[in-house]
Parts: sequence; C-alpha cells; structure tokens
Amino acid sequence: MDDKKIIFSGTQPSGNLTLGNYLGAIKNWVELQKDYHCIYAMMDLHTITVRQTPADVRRRTLEVLALYIACGIDPDESIMFVQSHNPAHAELAWVLNCYTYMGELQRMTQFKDKSARHSDNINAGLFTYPVLMAADILLYQADYVPVGKDQMQHIEICRDIAQRFNAIYGDVFKIPEGLLSKSGAKIMSLQEPMKKMSKSDENPKAYISMMDDMNTIAKKIKSAVTDSEGVIEYREGDEAKAGINNLLSIMSAVSGRSIEAVASEYSGKGYGDFKADVAQAVVECIRPIRAEYDRLINDKAYLMDICKKGAESAGKISERTLKKVYKKVGFLV
Ligand code: TYM
Repeated sequence: MDDKKIIFSGTQPSGNLTLGNYLGAIKNWVELQKDYHCIYAMMDLHTITVRQTPADVRRRTLEVLALYIACGIDPDESIMFVQSHNPAHAELAWVLNCYTYMGELQRMTQFKDKSARHSDNINAGLFTYPVLMAADILLYQADYVPVGKDQMQHIEICRDIAQRFNAIYGDVFKIPEGLLSKSGAKIMSLQEPMKKMSKSDENPKAYISMMDDMNTIAKKIKSAVTDSEGVIEYREGDEAKAGINNLLSIMSAVSGRSIEAVASEYSGKGYGDFKADVAQAVVECIRPIRAEYDRLINDKAYLMDICKKGAESAGKISERTLKKVYKKVGFLV
C-alpha cells in the first residue's frame, strides 16, 4: 500500500439526491479522487431508521450509484459499494455502541430533529445512528470524511468514540477529520432559506432534485424565496438575506468562483436577472450529469458488478480493523 491518505463518505438512498448533496459532498468527492484512496458507499442501513418503502430503497441504491458515476466518481479509481453488503459495518457498530454514552447521543441535533418529525417512530436505531456512522468511517481508517456542514456533529462524535476506544486499547483507530467543500457546504431550502435543503422536504419546490427535468430546475430557482430589499449582497447570518445568500452560494459552487466575486458581479443588478443566471448555471451543471445518469441507469448488470467488486474490496480493508477490535475487546478470534 502506498502512503496516499484515505477518504470515506456516503449518502443515504432515502430519496432523490439534491443539489445540496451534490454541491455539499459529491462534487468534492470527485476532486479528491486524484490525491487520495477514496471509498464511497450507499448507506442503506441508515435509511431504515425512518420507515421506507422497501422497493424504493432497493431502486434508489442503484440510482445513487449511477449518480455517483455520472458525477465523475470513477469505478476504476474509487471503491463504491452498498453498506449492507459489508457486514462489518453492523458488527463494528455493535462494539462501538458499548463505548458510546446515552448523553452524547442525546445531544445530536439530527436525532432531535428527526424524532420531532417522526414522533410515532423514535426507534433505537435513530438514536444510535451516529454510532453506525462512526463504524462506517473507522473501519477504513479514514483520514478525511468529506461531508456537508449538517454532518459535522456526527464526525465529532465519531472522533470522540475513536479517541475513547484508543485511550483504552492503544492505537486501534485513525482519528478522522471532516472536510467541508468551500462554498456548497450548506445549501439551504429554496422556500425556507433558514432551513437546509433536504431530500425529505414535503415541499418539492424547496429542493432541486438531481432527477428534476431542466425546466423544473429553472422554475424552482426562479421562484426561490428572497427579500424585498432588492440588494444583491452576501450578509452572513442575516436572516433577511438568507435567500440571496443561498443563491450566491449556489452560484459560487456551480461556477467555481468565490462568493465575493459573484456578489460583486451582480451588485446593483435586479433579482430577476440574477435568478435567471443562477437557474441557467445550475441547469448547465446538472445537464451533462443527467445525460450520463440516464445512460447508466439502464445498465443494471454493470452497476451490480460495481457493487459486487466494491463490497469485496471494502470487505478486505475493513476486515483488518474489525479483527483488531475483536481481539482487543477479548473476543476469541
Ligand atoms: P445524507 O444522505 O443526508 O447526505 C449526503 C451528503 O450530502 C450532504 N448534504 C448537504 N450538503 C450541503 N447542503 C445541503 N443542503 C446538504 N444536504 C446534505 C451531507 O452533509 C452528506 O455529506 N449520515 C449521512 C450518511 C452517512 C455518512 C456515513 C457520511 C452514513 N455514514 C459515513 C459520511 C461518512 C447522511 O445522512 O448524509
């Protein structure tokens, strides 16, 4: 093995991926392939913390894989696999559950949000979700975990669990670091810009799905909520400016220019023109991805083959960590 560092990340196939998933995570993953050993998974075990339609999870798992590839993840470069195809994730999660405190899990904002939204199903899996996520990362001795801002708290608890375990048993786990993308780390809802853009939002106008057709994408951007001030300016933390801040971040992320450069180009211009340009830039960014996705999704055999090979490669790496952990805690191996 060379001395390239290791990257691990993943997405839940719990809905159509959004522009937020792309700009906050996947776009960054593509760039990281050049310099790192990258492992990207479809996190199906996590999806069942909320009730799902089984056929949808199955279908979406392959859709997410096709989208990863269409976005530029190269199956010859990076390992891609389905989380449930490697049993080591569930196995390590059990061990780590015994090294994680109820109090730490109770502080997780995602748990608080999701249990408020699904008050009829506050299950133990929803509560221990971050432990499974820690297992995902630690199994591969990942150095970096490229995610959106909403997942940073989960990376923190992963680090805490790993450090606690290492303090007892020696250097078993690499302590991973979260990696945020420069401008798309938190893409907000187009309708309620104080909320994150989410694939599970009930209002489809609030998010751009990577599966939307080009007209719908443009329409959604053009009807994004802004303000009545009429000034294009980035003001971090100013609630009134949340809509414009978001469109500036989106424009910056899709164009690769800084937020300041975009804001100064549009300073003094009207919201209508600005939105039309953002809409066009987003459409041009998604169009080639969609074309490639549409081609790939029909080749189920090819996608299944990647899953199979990916699970084998992932299994070989994770086996080493799991064995070490089992030995350390006293299991007969
Ligand atoms: P998930 O499936 O919700 O999202 C996948 C990735 O997209 C990022 N993201 C966003 N980034 C910017 N703006 C947004 N509006 C936005 N919405 C989502 C997320 O931060 C994430 O990086 N728990 C994880 C999946 C997971 C995982 C892991 C990730 C399971 N195990 C191990 C990394 C490592 C999740 O639900 O992401």
